[in-house]
Amino acid sequence: MEARKQISLGCMRLGKLSVDEAEKLIKEAIEEGIILFDHADIYGAGKCEEIFGEVLARNPGMREKIIIQTKCGICKGYYDLSKEHILNQVQKSLEALKTDYLDILLLHRPDALIDYQEVNEAFEELYNSGKVREFGVSNMNSWQLQLFKKYVKQPLKYNQLQFSIIHSSLVSQGMFVNMMADESLDHSNGTLEYCLLNDIRIQTWSSLMASWEEGTYIDNPHYPNLNMKLEELSEKYGVTKNAIGIAWILKHPINMIPIVGTTKIEHLKEIIKARDINLSREEWYKLYLAGGHTLP
Ligand SMILES: NC(=O)c1ccc[n+]([C@@H]2O[C@H](COP(=O)([O-])OP(=O)(O)OC[C@H]3O[C@@H](n4cnc5c(N)ncnc54)[C@H](OP(=O)(O)O)[C@@H]3O)[C@@H](O)[C@H]2O)c1
Repeated sequence: MEARKQISLGCMRLGKLSVDEAEKLIKEAIEEGIILFDHADIYGAGKCEEIFGEVLARNPGMREKIIIQTKCGICKGYYDLSKEHILNQVQKSLEALKTDYLDILLLHRPDALIDYQEVNEAFEELYNSGKVREFGVSNMNSWQLQLFKKYVKQPLKYNQLQFSIIHSSLVSQGMFVNMMADESLDHSNGTLEYCLLNDIRIQTWSSLMASWEEGTYIDNPHYPNLNMKLEELSEKYGVTKNAIGIAWILKHPINMIPIVGTTKIEHLKEIIKARDINLSREEWYKLYLAGGHTLP
């Protein structure tokens, strides 16, 4: 995948749209240059992949233009990265999406009972049968990635992680090395640095969220300082706050891919303007501080 500033459309909330509405959103995304679409077998209990599959069936030629990524491993109340589960879920996703190959398969979350050799067998079978072209993971730390390197032949190309101006431990812990502040607690074991060292591209989820509980930080009364700063920069760059929030992620030289989860064409059109914004270092740090963080 090219290394230029890239934004992906997350399909986790597609289930609340009709096929007609989803089709409009997906077509608009493609029109705007988005090619990567992020799914998971569990989104909308399978409904999101099915709706996307309907849209593909209605639009011959669309499949070849885009990159479809899905994930497996999260079940109701437990995690399962066994060979059998991976193979079964990929088959179900292929059927729901009405396609005969996935461009990218991600393992959704670490499974405490993971057997890396079994994952290797599953990946080999999927790659050799042409069902999956590239592999990656989500929510995994540098130690887990090293275990993949040891036992799994297929290289991991992506790690999808939560990251936003508010949820920023991936960068905070790097600045607080050897400090006694709370921020120095290493929540990710140098995952950002490991991904950079090993050509694993980071994709970010909930890129505009404060947290699951609080929802987006945009216009959220709990984040007045951040919203003031976002407003100021929106005016400067002639865009909306959501574009500034995504530009903050795109500024990082590791070239992360923000997966945006909007279901509104209007929001999508606003967000993609982030690709043309290059925040200064000072602006980047001011947004970080306005998000409630400190510097050592
Ligand atoms: N790997 C994982 O564990 C994991 C976990 C969660 C999500 N994901 C992936 O990441 C994608 C994005 O996650 P997310 O949906 O939590 O992230 P997000 O893009 O930060 O949040 C999108 C949500 O914010 C709302 N929103 C409110 N105001 C907005 C504004 N001004 N601009 C844009 N959005 C606004 C959207 O509503 P509207 O629809 O009304 O715009 C939507 O509900 C998901 O679709 C999924 O593909 C992965």
